[in-house]
Amino acid sequence: MKAVILKQTGPPSEVIALTPDAPTPKRAPGDILVRVIASAVNPVEYKTVRGMLPAKMPKVRGRERERGERDGGGGAEVGEAGADAGIDEKNSRKIAGGARPRPPPACPLRRPSRAAAGGRPRWRPPRPPRSPPCRPGHPLGCKHGQQDALPALPATTRAGAGLSRALSLLHPHTRLAPPLQILAGDVAGIVVEADPDGPFQPGTPVFAMTDGFKWDVDEHGCWAEYVSFPAAWAAAAPSSIPLADAAALPLVALTAYQTLALAPNLKKVEEGGSGPAAPPRILVHAGAGGVGHVGVQLARALYGAEVTSTAGPANQAFLKAEPLGVDEAVDYKAVSPDEFAKSHAGAFDAILDVVGGAQGEATAGALLKLGGTYCHVFNTATDGETTAKVKAALEAEGKAYVGPTLVSPDGPALAAIAALVDAGKLKPIIASRVALDGVAAALEEVEAGHVRGKIVVEVAKE
Ligand SMILES: NC(=O)c1ccc[n+]([C@@H]2O[C@H](COP(=O)([O-])OP(=O)(O)OC[C@H]3O[C@@H](n4cnc5c(N)ncnc54)[C@H](OP(=O)(O)O)[C@@H]3O)[C@@H](O)[C@H]2O)c1
Repeated sequence: MKAVILKQTGPPSEVIALTPDAPTPKRAPGDILVRVIASAVNPVEYKTVRGMLPAKMPKVRGRERERGERDGGGGAEVGEAGADAGIDEKNSRKIAGGARPRPPPACPLRRPSRAAAGGRPRWRPPRPPRSPPCRPGHPLGCKHGQQDALPALPATTRAGAGLSRALSLLHPHTRLAPPLQILAGDVAGIVVEADPDGPFQPGTPVFAMTDGFKWDVDEHGCWAEYVSFPAAWAAAAPSSIPLADAAALPLVALTAYQTLALAPNLKKVEEGGSGPAAPPRILVHAGAGGVGHVGVQLARALYGAEVTSTAGPANQAFLKAEPLGVDEAVDYKAVSPDEFAKSHAGAFDAILDVVGGAQGEATAGALLKLGGTYCHVFNTATDGETTAKVKAALEAEGKAYVGPTLVSPDGPALAAIAALVDAGKLKPIIASRVALDGVAAALEEVEAGHVRGKIVVEVAKE
């Protein structure tokens, strides 16, 4: 099958290539094999390609056959790796919902944790990723250029992969991919093989977020003609939009949906909401981006919120027009974070933040009402120490902090998202469409940071 292969970390145009003859993945029990109609491009994928993410990411539930166990549920299993990645274990588990993931077998030499000994688990601030991002000009003095001096190794052999791991210990900025690494988390496609008693039978159009955006999975991601993944991660695709457009939604929509769901003070309209007399006021940073443009629409549709959103000057009209239709658009280039915090002091019930830094973390306390919630989405700029301080400061002021959250595959949440699309309450905005051979350029465009909505990767016709 055709697929985009990642050979090692580095600039997208140098390290990814389109191959015509990648093997079609084999479906495991509990999985569906899907003919990919479209995928999408997310910032996490350029970060993976560039080697900016921790080598070890949290395991995602549903892939337990790798360890000989399986429960078919969706959600992130966040343990030590979660701490490495800077992820709040408690909140990530809440996102995952359902049963708590089974812990790995205990090592007899390891001291029992406080929790296992019956005490309260000690809270540790999330640690920042071990390897600094390898971008030229990075403030930590990244030695990105050194990777050119390393020998080219056969990434498609096990020995090559082992050597790659050994090399990455010596040189954290270069990693060779495991054999046949195919990236990408988002997929919309048609089921071609499934368990006879599974929820989706051959011929069903589905959409899903898989764990294919991560570096350390042995199985294939979605920039390919076929992908196999647990059926529990999928939902029937919305029927009111083209199947290819549905590929723009899963990762970003789940991020906003799962993160807002953690805010203790937000109540869904279907559960009674806050009533039309007192709609919640929600601030969504970066409303023109992938997560933001869906976050704005979900804040309105799910919580009946009045929405304020930030974007640059070129996106002010986009924010105000339907389908986003924000009540207030703020130009982050014209209004400084401090000015905005002064003019909107105590204005918001919740903040959905994918930006962080001076704009997000530093102003959250001033912008939130008493009892309001700062919903903090993890990104590579998230700093564990700062996060711990922001959380402590907010809680001392009677405000809530949730995060930093990490999106999890979640079929039932996607079914709710598809229902909103079909009810005309959520529409993905497609910035552009590329074929598989356009993925490298699309990654570079996403990395530049000003895509409006999503770039869809069209793989095949329906
Ligand atoms: N933890 C998780 O599970 C998770 C999940 C998804 C995404 N993320 C992370 O969240 C971040 C955003 O993801 P995304 O998919 O939304 O990215 P994106 O689509 O690439 O975001 C691009 C948009 O961000 C806007 N923007 C850039 N800087 C801004 C600022 N300072 N204030 C307001 N808007 C700004 C741009 O608008 P202008 O052109 O108008 O500036 C552009 O429309 C990324 O770092 C990503 O890795 C994390």
